[in-house]
Amino acid sequence: MRLGAQLRFLALGLMLALAAGFATPSSAQQINPTASAVKEQQFLDALKGNKDAELQGRITIPDGKAATLERPAGREWRAFHQGTMFRIAAIAVLGTLLLLTAFYLIRGRIRIEAGPSGRTITRFNGFERFTHWLTASCFIILALSGLNVTFGKAVLLPLIGPAAFTDISIIAKWSHNYLAWPFMVGIALTFLIWIKDNIPSGADLQWFAQGGGLIGKGHPAARRFNAGQKVIFWSVVIGGAALSLSGFYLLFPAYAGGVLNLQFWNSVHGIVSVLMVAIILAHIYIGSLGMEGAFDAMGSGEVDLNWAREHHSLWVEEEMRKGGVHKDPALQPAE
Ligand code: HEM
Repeated sequence: MRLGAQLRFLALGLMLALAAGFATPSSAQQINPTASAVKEQQFLDALKGNKDAELQGRITIPDGKAATLERPAGREWRAFHQGTMFRIAAIAVLGTLLLLTAFYLIRGRIRIEAGPSGRTITRFNGFERFTHWLTASCFIILALSGLNVTFGKAVLLPLIGPAAFTDISIIAKWSHNYLAWPFMVGIALTFLIWIKDNIPSGADLQWFAQGGGLIGKGHPAARRFNAGQKVIFWSVVIGGAALSLSGFYLLFPAYAGGVLNLQFWNSVHGIVSVLMVAIILAHIYIGSLGMEGAFDAMGSGEVDLNWAREHHSLWVEEEMRKGGVHKDPALQPAE
């Protein structure tokens, strides 16, 4: 009896010791459940050298795309999107601002050489100005909200903190999605109303040869739009169309025809948008601070006659022939 009790006690002690042994973490006894599994790097090594290669797994949900386990091209695209694209955007935006500052410091504000005449000529009618400001206001908000995607986390987040950054980013995202539509309307109207004045001509080469009057002295002759403005017009129309098409696929990815196409449209959208931001920064500068008398064209629609004669002499002559401008003895022939 005594021996039986002793044996039971011993057995209980053994069981407790075993249980404690399993429960106590011990590095020597730990089991690594993935020790013999394939490592991600092995997948990547196996797919090396084949850009279109991808590794498919087995899935039970209807969306076939979810079966893709590895696609090395995706990593290259991510490196481009988060690295190269970031640098291209930074150089384009900051570089343009730097160049414009240098231009302002060296050249100063371009003045009306003959001074304001006090007489005006109608440059743009109400519908033209409406089209311009529709396109411009949409573009500015689209550009700022788009730049927030690229630079927001690095620049804005540390400045305003996560709560404000989240709120701003949500508003920016919705603005970007919805303002894309009136912007497209603006681009289409811009094309329709100004295409007739933006066909390249021989005078444009002369304009470039004379540095557009921006560099050096004198004002090259120009019709309604000079060669520099034609560059702006075509950049806006072609760039705007590229942004619209690529943006459409980003808004409705199901139509893009696969993730590789989406990556392509995403890159198009990113590169074209920063190039346009750079071009438009220069346009905004010359249409406001950079040139005396220019803003009135898009403000009231009426520009000073001397301004018009200096920058668009051939256009003023045409308008005079059409009787659009009252002849005045003070009005001299265009330079
Ligand atoms: C605050 C921003 C802006 C200002 C102050 C501004 C100013 C001007 C002015 C003064 C003109 C008339 C120039 C002339 O009489 O010859 C003009 C024309 C034009 N603007 Fe703007 N603009 C701005 C933004 C934009 C934006 C964002 C776009 C397009 C995305 C744009 C597209 C155009 C085009 C296509 C023309 C006709 C071609 C040209 O004159 O270069 N503008 N703008």
